[in-house]
Amino acid sequence: MSASPRSAPMTVRLDGAHAIVTGAGRGIGRACALALLKAGANVTLVARSGDQLDEVIEAASSLDGEAYKHLADVRLEDEVEAAVEAAMQRGPIDICVNCAGVNQPGPTVASTVAQWDLIIDTNLRGSFLVCRAVGRRLLEAKRGGRIINISSDLGSVGYPQRAIYCASKHGLDGLTRALAVEWAKDGITVNAVAPTFINTPLTKPMFEDKEFLEEVLRRIPMGRIGEPEDVAGAVLFLASDAANLVTGEILRCDGGWVAW
Ligand SMILES: NC(=O)c1ccc[n+]([C@@H]2O[C@H](COP(=O)([O-])OP(=O)(O)OC[C@H]3O[C@@H](n4cnc5c(N)ncnc54)[C@H](OP(=O)(O)O)[C@@H]3O)[C@@H](O)[C@H]2O)c1
Repeated sequence: MSASPRSAPMTVRLDGAHAIVTGAGRGIGRACALALLKAGANVTLVARSGDQLDEVIEAASSLDGEAYKHLADVRLEDEVEAAVEAAMQRGPIDICVNCAGVNQPGPTVASTVAQWDLIIDTNLRGSFLVCRAVGRRLLEAKRGGRIINISSDLGSVGYPQRAIYCASKHGLDGLTRALAVEWAKDGITVNAVAPTFINTPLTKPMFEDKEFLEEVLRRIPMGRIGEPEDVAGAVLFLASDAANLVTGEILRCDGGWVAW
């Protein structure tokens, strides 16, 4: 088995399932969407940048599932409701991956309320709005479903210069556990995947600081930065029948960061 996969394992089949993936235009969300499409699910891609969603649709043209795009800002209740409603027009939703997220690291004493609002509103309020909108439809449909929130190791531990981000992801883990308990009897599982640092457009500027990169690598026992496909593999597992009894779980995908 490879320790550094470049594509998510494809033994999972999700033919005929319908997924909605936020933050699907690049990075981890893009990889999750492509993995679900390759497994045969139809996927509604959500983000604000239409050109990036078009690129994902193009990349998915030879895959088994159909990809559709819907532009929305997950911080805005009306836009989230419209995105979920538009997805429902293509058939009932089975799987929801909340991946839209931002970070603006820096010393906490220099951070602004505007940064607090941006990070908390995107990572926590946005996930809440999507969970609520999708959860409502899943409960009405009475056919169960899978909600998978993309959290972070920094939902479990602290890290300097990332206080607001840590607060948002600790909150997301709490939201995940509470919804898992609330919706368990309705056959809806709610889990999170908690990655370590992953190579994406979000982290690219961070890793230009070689000292920071070395410090991050020192903290990952497996000794490498993750790839988006590593996270997509964990998402596929949680979306699959292999995870039928898994709920309220924060599944680490971190090369051992939090285990140390
Ligand atoms: N990369 C890492 O090291 C890492 C580690 C742990 C967890 N995570 C988490 O994984 C998720 C994805 O991170 P990433 O590294 O893939 O980031 P990324 O490459 O910057 O991609 C973020 C995606 O979220 C979308 N997005 C951001 N704000 C949005 C909003 N208000 N409404 C709708 N969509 C929005 C972006 O599209 P638009 O800007 O076009 O809207 C983009 O598609 C985040 O939740 C992040 O916290 C990342």
